Amino acid sequence: MTPPIATFLTDTNFRSVLYIVSFSLFIYGLSGLTGPKTAVRGNRIAAVGMGVAIVATLLMPHLHNLGLIVLGVVLGTIVGVPAARRVKMTQMPQMVALFNGVGGGAVALIAWVEFRKSGGFADVPTYVAIFSVFAAIIGSVSFWGSNIAFAKLQELLPGKPISIGPAQQPVNFLLLAAAAACGVAIVAGSHGEGLFLGLLVAAAILGNFVVLPIGGADMPVVISLLNAFTGLSAAATGIALNNPALIVAGMIVGASGTLLTQQMAHAMNRSITSVVAGGFGGAVEAPVGAAGTDGTVRSTSAADVAIQMAYARQVVVVPGYGMAVSQAQHAVREMSKLLEAKGVAVKYAIHPVAGRMPGHMNVLLAEADVPYDQLKEMDDINGEFSRTDVSLVIGANDVTNPDARNKPDSPIYGMPILNVDESSSVIVLKRSMSSGYAGIDNPLFTNPKTSMLFGDAKGSVADITEELKAL
Ligand code: TAP
Repeated sequence: MTPPIATFLTDTNFRSVLYIVSFSLFIYGLSGLTGPKTAVRGNRIAAVGMGVAIVATLLMPHLHNLGLIVLGVVLGTIVGVPAARRVKMTQMPQMVALFNGVGGGAVALIAWVEFRKSGGFADVPTYVAIFSVFAAIIGSVSFWGSNIAFAKLQELLPGKPISIGPAQQPVNFLLLAAAAACGVAIVAGSHGEGLFLGLLVAAAILGNFVVLPIGGADMPVVISLLNAFTGLSAAATGIALNNPALIVAGMIVGASGTLLTQQMAHAMNRSITSVVAGGFGGAVEAPVGAAGTDGTVRSTSAADVAIQMAYARQVVVVPGYGMAVSQAQHAVREMSKLLEAKGVAVKYAIHPVAGRMPGHMNVLLAEADVPYDQLKEMDDINGEFSRTDVSLVIGANDVTNPDARNKPDSPIYGMPILNVDESSSVIVLKRSMSSGYAGIDNPLFTNPKTSMLFGDAKGSVADITEELKAL
């Protein structure tokens, strides 16, 4: 006879309560991610929620293959924990891509297993077949697309767009139609496994073909979009399996991924369709003269920069992708401390899409213990540039480009920027006159107020710091 405690633990109602606890923790944890001070706690709370959901699932009666399940959990932990601990901040987008892809792949495999278990969805309600087929297609697209995104960002594949030319979009449409046709046949009552495999293969090729033509620099937006896809496919699986935690978690990922994708595209002043269509940020234009510039590049020295900043009342640091590449955040913090000791007010201007992922600059500066109250969002700092003596642009480019305000035919026209050109003096730290992500010239660099300090950002900041110490 089954002991009463086992009957209680495996009871559907008890497991439902656990699922409600788990997704309540997901939602509560997620609300913590709205600010840097509460983010770590929020993440831990959501992780506890995931632990509760796993326990609730393992309490399902008549569970087979417990040994295999435990082995899977152990292997996943062995791979996942060190990878997450070791990953560098600059590699975070590809890490998210990989983990997201695994989620999509798991969803597609679950749908396949359910197809086989039910004899080709022979004895299940139609809605179960519909949601399973949807989950299999979207999960497979997400798995393969995320792998390509990972490979591009990890430089295992070239970052530049790879496509079969004008036939790409029609071929993609045919692949989607093929996957959907297999799905419709299955839902209509065909039980052949070949159809399900055809669906998975068509969706797999589609996932590859959608992401390969997109340039490497657009990958963070694509990853966010694929993340939303994985969430939706997980929610569909939840409906098919009647699992409330999966439905809620999937919908949270689907909704937040969709909002994040929209916000990123909005902050870059681009549509999601134009990102998915690819072809942005490839070419580097030759520098040309532009309004407000005299076409002359003025280079400066660390000693001059140190003197200018030491006698300033306010310095605004504008970090960008180059600061992340050179890992200059700790050096920047050291330099700021010296300036503050000399009575200079130091603030940091954070553009929403500076770097290559949402919150990129916030995370790096937090890692270097920059006080949160010195980090100013774009809308809060823009009014202050006209009262700023020196803007120190560290590896930022597009987010400071005045063409976004002034040049209607610029690809970034309309993107809100940090108005650094309103400050009395601008110093730009970068290695060369190369363009940034958008692949366009930046007239800020030839503005008479601007001086360029060429070199790796970390080295340049360290040189300035040495000069400041000597003053
Ligand atoms: P970018 O415009 O990409 O410019 C970065 C600059 O950093 C480059 O011009 C480069 O010039 C310089 N750089 C690179 N390595 C450096 C190093 N070691 N030391 C010093 N400088 C270095 O960066 P941004 O201003 O941060 O703008 C971000 C761009 O990415 C925007 O166009 C945005 O739309 C796009 N984007 C953002 C996101 C998110 S969510 N953040 C996602 C996708 C795309 P040199 O080569 O001359 O040094």
